Amino acid sequence: RPWKLAEHARLGKGKVVGVVVLDGWGEAPPDPFNCIHVADTPTLDALKKGAPERWRLIKAHGTAVGLPTDDDMGNSEVGHNALGAGQIYAQGAKLVDLALASGKIYEGEGFKYIQQSFETGTLHLIGLLSDGGVHSRIDQLQLLLKGASEHGAKRIRVHILTDGRDVLDGSSVTFVETLENDLAKLREKGVDARIASGGGRMYVTMDRYENDWQVVKRGWDAQVLGETPHKFPSALEAVKKLRDDPKANDQYLPPFVVLDESGKPVGPIVDGDAVVTFNFRADRMVMLAKALEYEDFDKFDRVRFPRIRYAGMLQYDGELKLPSHYLVAPPEIERTSGEYLARNGVRTYACSETVKFGHVTFFWNGNRSGYFNPNLERYEEIPSDTGIPFNVQPRMKAVEVAEKARDAILSGKFDQVRVNIPNADMVGHTGDLEATIVGCKAADEAVKIILDAIEQVGGIFVVTADHGNAEDMVKRDKSGKPIRDKDGNVQPLTSHTLNPVPIAIGGPGLAPGATFREDLPDAGLANVAATVINLHGFEAPHHYEPTLIQVSPVPF
Ligand code: 3PG
Ligand code: CO
Repeated sequence: RPWKLAEHARLGKGKVVGVVVLDGWGEAPPDPFNCIHVADTPTLDALKKGAPERWRLIKAHGTAVGLPTDDDMGNSEVGHNALGAGQIYAQGAKLVDLALASGKIYEGEGFKYIQQSFETGTLHLIGLLSDGGVHSRIDQLQLLLKGASEHGAKRIRVHILTDGRDVLDGSSVTFVETLENDLAKLREKGVDARIASGGGRMYVTMDRYENDWQVVKRGWDAQVLGETPHKFPSALEAVKKLRDDPKANDQYLPPFVVLDESGKPVGPIVDGDAVVTFNFRADRMVMLAKALEYEDFDKFDRVRFPRIRYAGMLQYDGELKLPSHYLVAPPEIERTSGEYLARNGVRTYACSETVKFGHVTFFWNGNRSGYFNPNLERYEEIPSDTGIPFNVQPRMKAVEVAEKARDAILSGKFDQVRVNIPNADMVGHTGDLEATIVGCKAADEAVKIILDAIEQVGGIFVVTADHGNAEDMVKRDKSGKPIRDKDGNVQPLTSHTLNPVPIAIGGPGLAPGATFREDLPDAGLANVAATVINLHGFEAPHHYEPTLIQVSPVPF
């Protein structure tokens, strides 16, 4: 297949295209728990009300983005993959399901590799313990535990990370109970299986994009060294006791280790052991993978670097080939819009702050971290604040990111300027409604800065989102009513949603006859890439999901 794109019959080349991804910005009916509705968002409101033929909703969850079922909420990985790739790929969650169901996972190179340690070593499983389906799923862990023991693992240690972000806060207790039950059953069958350590995902292990290596270090101390201030006789007791602190929540539980009767940690990772990180999603596993795999490593003092056989559930970074062993092959996301545009001479600038930087670069480009053509591309990262909860600084770096984008647009050096504005998602995940409202307002201000710059240069804009979050911040019953406890309190919804997201196009450079087609009611995020390629003046590749726009000739 050729890389050269044909010129679009009706849309000209050479206009600056600003692409804004509002993270966690879905569409839902007006409601007190819809923070986007409650927030003052004049820019986004104007896009919606201003030009109905240039605003619509698109699907951002479930099978439309390659997830196993339509009950799966959207997330940034699959969302940005679809936005950038223009095609729908079966994603990690689904690929792992298939490999487990067929048993192929146990025949692959990765499993055979770790299996060599089963005779004399321990198998350690490290990952997120919930049924969120964003980074991992507990049912996959359960199948893997069963399968690994049937395939020779005699001693198994699980290192859990509690969630409360893709699932309700407080649910960690039930997930630990479920896992403890399974491990007890394994023990009845003669497998020495226990939970060895744990901690909350945002405080222990699951950092991303090298925002804060201390997070990974805290996990290392618990999982590998077995040394933490908090020690408990069981994980269930640990999670319950640590949650007694009124300020505690699942996302930020401190690291802990489980001790045996003699007071020794039950499962530090030592020479000769096997380790599997059972998350399928890449961004929050890459840093731990580096610590486990790289001989040369200077991000923190590992104290001890055990000689282990390590495999990821998936290979997390295809370019770095990290980790080098994995149980399931990742989706091969190819021929992304970023690569097409680079090969057709389009100059691209991409920017976000650290916590979302890889979303508009790595995920957008099909899980590739580098440039396609360094002469044409520039990716800029604004450092996120570390150690400050996002509900304490809900404006985050939205305006800074937008100002970088504005400068890139005005510079005349770029044809596409692409950003991710994180607030609705990152603050939404805290479950703090007041703060989320402030965050949504800041995101709207950021969009205004970018649209003003597009206006100045006669460019085109595309404003969309990767999945829902801030538009629904409460746990609801089946009929959609907020669930209240006996005191009338609601439970905040920290997770993403199943809602569609808006997309708006416009700007002085957009051909007057360009509008959204009406024949694609079920379109989703994967239809955006062809749309953006069109706006750069090219026909999209034939194998892409169809463009959202039509261009009618405008009479003089
Ligand atoms: C996270 O990793 O922060 C959440 O699990 C998912 O959020 P994201 O998909 O918006 O990054
Ligand atoms: Co999110």
